Amino acid sequence: MSAVPSFCVADRFSDVGFSEIVVIRNKILAMKKDGHQIFQFEGGEPFPNTPQIIKDACLQALVENKTRYAASSGIPELLSALANKLNKKNNIPAEVNHLIVVAGGMHGLFAAFQAVLNPNEEVLLFSPYWTPTKDLISMTGGKTVLVNTLKARAEGLTKTLKSHLTQKTRLLCLSSPQNPTGIVFNQEEMLEIADFVKTHNLLVISDEAYEDLCYDHPHISIASLPDMYKRTISCFTFSKSYAMTGWRLGYVSAPEPFITAIKQSILYSTNGVSTPTQWAGLAAITQVTGFVEENLAEYRQRRNLLVNGLNELGFDCAMPSGAFYAFPSIKKFGKTSREVAAMLLAEAKIATIPGSVFGPEGEGYLRFSYSIPVETISAGLAALKSFCEKRV
Ligand SMILES: Cc1ncc(COP(=O)(O)O)c(C=O)c1O
Repeated sequence: MSAVPSFCVADRFSDVGFSEIVVIRNKILAMKKDGHQIFQFEGGEPFPNTPQIIKDACLQALVENKTRYAASSGIPELLSALANKLNKKNNIPAEVNHLIVVAGGMHGLFAAFQAVLNPNEEVLLFSPYWTPTKDLISMTGGKTVLVNTLKARAEGLTKTLKSHLTQKTRLLCLSSPQNPTGIVFNQEEMLEIADFVKTHNLLVISDEAYEDLCYDHPHISIASLPDMYKRTISCFTFSKSYAMTGWRLGYVSAPEPFITAIKQSILYSTNGVSTPTQWAGLAAITQVTGFVEENLAEYRQRRNLLVNGLNELGFDCAMPSGAFYAFPSIKKFGKTSREVAAMLLAEAKIATIPGSVFGPEGEGYLRFSYSIPVETISAGLAALKSFCEKRV
């Protein structure tokens, strides 16, 4: 008889959580069902619908019976368009055979961590961080080492990163623009991070989900910096740039030996992305014009409205340089971010995400998305004002 009990899951799941955001969303759904009007700042979706030209390309693929197995790394037309995009727009020297189409940003990150990380190896992760990142690391048996982003920026990136370095450090996970803070590392900071990585012979997994949502300076892909391509796995998604969250489409660029392992991970999991969806992705990359730029202008207006409004109410909110989230301090309430988020939802019908969901460094903050209608932002701020007048 086996000494291992049969009715338990694999050890690598012992540290893997379920997103608290889902719990909050379920609560909001229940409140809406009960007839409450909620100011929904908790989301993480672009506000527009997917452009028609992308939907038409998918429909056309169906009409033309482009519905059969494709190569599991992607249809050649899309791979070649992506290589072109990465070279021209991101300055990443990506080759077609060093690319793979995946089912969204999450899937790309999953495959990337699976491909390189061994149990007990350590990953440096700037914190607050997008919550699933830590779970994706845990699922490999790897360990997350959190690096406080604000502290690192204030006291020196190299010095702070070095203080977290051990014999087991294998890679650095970078996300710029960041969710939930909206922080975008500038060129000087990127070069400093790249130098640190090279000095200590680390790998980088770069999450570039919000590459098209930078307000102050252009997005920098770390793989484009000198000598970085060979040690970087770059993960992209169509979700935020083209309002395609539900399509589940993304791509990963990595040199050998990593790309082969990533391809194996995809081959033996989804065996590729649905063929019509890939034709839609090709239209997004090659035919959509102006969409990203128009949205950026809209987001900027909504960001200014929300962030200025929060500061006027005494919340102390830095102006985010990227993505579509504001991350104000709620320290003036003298309560945890979970308590304040629960109070706001119950008493003012304002839905936000507690900062502690994004790691201990997020405690004392709430995440507000401004990818919602201008009217909702204004009405939500008015509700917040009366809440504050009663509370503080
Ligand atoms: C920082 C970050 N990375 C990656 C993703 C994954 O996006 P998707 O799986 O929808 O492509 C998200 C989604 O919210 C995100 O916020």
